Amino acid sequence: MQLLIGRSPDLLFTLPKDCYTKDIVSVPVGRRPVFIVNHPETLRRLFGDDRASYPKSDLMISTLAPLLGDGVLLSAGRRWEHDRKMLEPAFMQMRLEALFPKMLSAIHDWIERLDALASDQIVSLESELSRVTADVMFRILFSQAIDGEAATTIYHAFTRFQHHSPQFNLRVVLASDPARPEPLSPVLQEEARKIRGTIEQLLIQRETQLAEGKDFFDFTQALIDARDTEGNPFSRSELIDQLAVFFLAGHETTASALAWCFFILSQQPAWLAQLRSEIDERLGEKPFTYADFKQMPITRAVFRESMRLYPPVAFLTRRALQEDHFGKLRIPKDSFIVASPWLVHRHHTFWSHADRFEPSRFIGQDSASFGGNYMPFGLGARACTGAMIAQLEATLILCEVLRRFSFKPMNPERVFPVSRVSVRSDCGIPVKLIRRHTR
Ligand code: HEM
Repeated sequence: MQLLIGRSPDLLFTLPKDCYTKDIVSVPVGRRPVFIVNHPETLRRLFGDDRASYPKSDLMISTLAPLLGDGVLLSAGRRWEHDRKMLEPAFMQMRLEALFPKMLSAIHDWIERLDALASDQIVSLESELSRVTADVMFRILFSQAIDGEAATTIYHAFTRFQHHSPQFNLRVVLASDPARPEPLSPVLQEEARKIRGTIEQLLIQRETQLAEGKDFFDFTQALIDARDTEGNPFSRSELIDQLAVFFLAGHETTASALAWCFFILSQQPAWLAQLRSEIDERLGEKPFTYADFKQMPITRAVFRESMRLYPPVAFLTRRALQEDHFGKLRIPKDSFIVASPWLVHRHHTFWSHADRFEPSRFIGQDSASFGGNYMPFGLGARACTGAMIAQLEATLILCEVLRRFSFKPMNPERVFPVSRVSVRSDCGIPVKLIRRHTR
């Protein structure tokens, strides 16, 4: 097997070719065994019945725990089950119809901001999309827009956290030692402290407002009101953990998915034209309503296909708690297990023309019909709880942007993906924004 470590440190470029064709690839160098798993049944085991034996990897935990603590994205076993049960009433509040007006108002404020920029202005697609998706999550979590001081602090600190977070790098994986996880860099620890401190201030502010008799109907309130079977609430620090998880998981990924979707569309004029006709026919000049969401098959298919090629979470990493076997292959204790949407989605056995952008494969098909071979939102019990929220938000943003603006990437040949917290570009994707017509 040829490892291309010298060429680029990013795992997206160092993966051996075998990873796109084989069921399981073992990487036989380094301090610990690494297994890259594409095999559908083994994936089902890892994320299904055997998931207790494969908690989140020590590398994932050491990178994210200073920010997310023991929140539901990282926790394991009883703790995870306990917290997920407590979170159920909060999930009920995240019904799509209830969130729709909050989403729409954040998106419209952002469109107004874009509209106020001069036509032909160059903007960073990634920064703009992070801004709007952060605002959507802020309104859902805290009933506040992103223009407040706390929101702006959190937004900028998250941007720096993402920017400085280590690239997902095969050298780091191979050198990692589960018994001695690498500490996070001081810059990242400082950003994490800032974000957690600001969330704490928001919680203190909420306590004061509640004492003054104000009412809230949002995710934060549902978390504050949550009780476990013994009647215990989340502690202050647990509330911060969960809110940090939802803010990070809820905006970072959706921004990444949308940035790649817009970028791909800029290179696919025929699909862009089809998308625009669907938007014009369905919406014309009328406002987007919740009922429109399910009636946009091309928009949904384009978004799904772009997440097939550019899944925001490229690598789901786990640690083997004990020795195991995948078929005849021995998996030693502490092996580093990689299940990769990036690889599974480009695997030549599972997909015809795996490297081509062909949204038609998703038209009239629901994602479940691809089984475990389509996994942008993960698999099994630990799969994303916000998948439908992300799809509603993405549909709204695609429609509202495309009916008002055209955009042209500057130097598209220089845009390369890098895997950080999510898959980002190495340049922010600068685009020229052009107003289509005034509404
Ligand atoms: C396109 C957007 C999104 C993508 C691609 C995505 C992807 C994922 C993936 C792959 C996982 C599983 C991680 C693993 O198994 O290690 C996950 C978990 C999670 N996601 Fe998302 N996500 C998205 C949007 C959202 C949104 C909008 C929210 C919240 C509103 C959210 C909340 C969560 C939470 C709480 C978990 C942890 C679930 C658990 O372990 O109990 N995500 N997401």
